[in-house]
Amino acid sequence: MKSKKVSESKTTMTQMVMPNDTNPLGNLMGGNLLRWMDIAAGICAGKHSERYVVTASVDHVSFKLPIHMGEVVTMVASVTRAFSTSMEIYVEVFSTDIKGGNTRRCNHAYYTFVALDDERQKPVPVPEVQPLTSEEEYLYNEAMKRRELRLILSGRIKPQQAQELRNYINGIVD
Ligand SMILES: CC(C)(COP(=O)(O)OP(=O)(O)OC[C@H]1O[C@@H](n2cnc3c(N)ncnc32)[C@H](O)[C@@H]1OP(=O)(O)O)[C@@H](O)C(=O)NCCC(=O)NCCS
Repeated sequence: MKSKKVSESKTTMTQMVMPNDTNPLGNLMGGNLLRWMDIAAGICAGKHSERYVVTASVDHVSFKLPIHMGEVVTMVASVTRAFSTSMEIYVEVFSTDIKGGNTRRCNHAYYTFVALDDERQKPVPVPEVQPLTSEEEYLYNEAMKRRELRLILSGRIKPQQAQELRNYINGIVD
């Protein structure tokens, strides 16, 4: 299967925070933001794999800055690395006022999506990612450690199987 560039599936999605998106403080509710991020990441994963995809996991979510009603929120989703049937998608969230000013980077997270066959039943292989820029290469190289960590935490592998993570930790401890 031919590898694909990150730029081929990069996805940008914009929303305005409406009153029914907010919590009692008048800020965007975290669950609504996660939903928008999931949609942007799912479109990105679908474009990369050219398949139906499902969300397998979400990690490293932090809500660094509140986003206020009336602000314009932009989600930028990029594939960092593909494994066998799964892909890691990095989503960054930016907020601006309606005039496009006061841009703030509010949030980021890593989503894992799995590609499914045409019957939407079984996982199927996905194209590899071809990182080109230095940032793409950095995210690609770090992705294996994040994958091993999430697979340990979800009970899918044992810590002894996480070779890259073990090498990394041994390197810090030495
Ligand atoms: C995701 C799903 C397809 C995986 O099915 P499965 O039978 O466990 O399939 P496999 O064991 O073959 O794993 C498939 C891939 O998913 C990855 N995966 C499964 N669970 C994962 C998790 N919690 N975190 C990260 N990756 C995960 C595996 O590592 C594997 O990746 P790889 O092929 O690149 O190595 C299945 O669990 C599912 O359909 N979940 C519900 C998805 C959904 O409905 N999401 C919407 C939110 S409600």
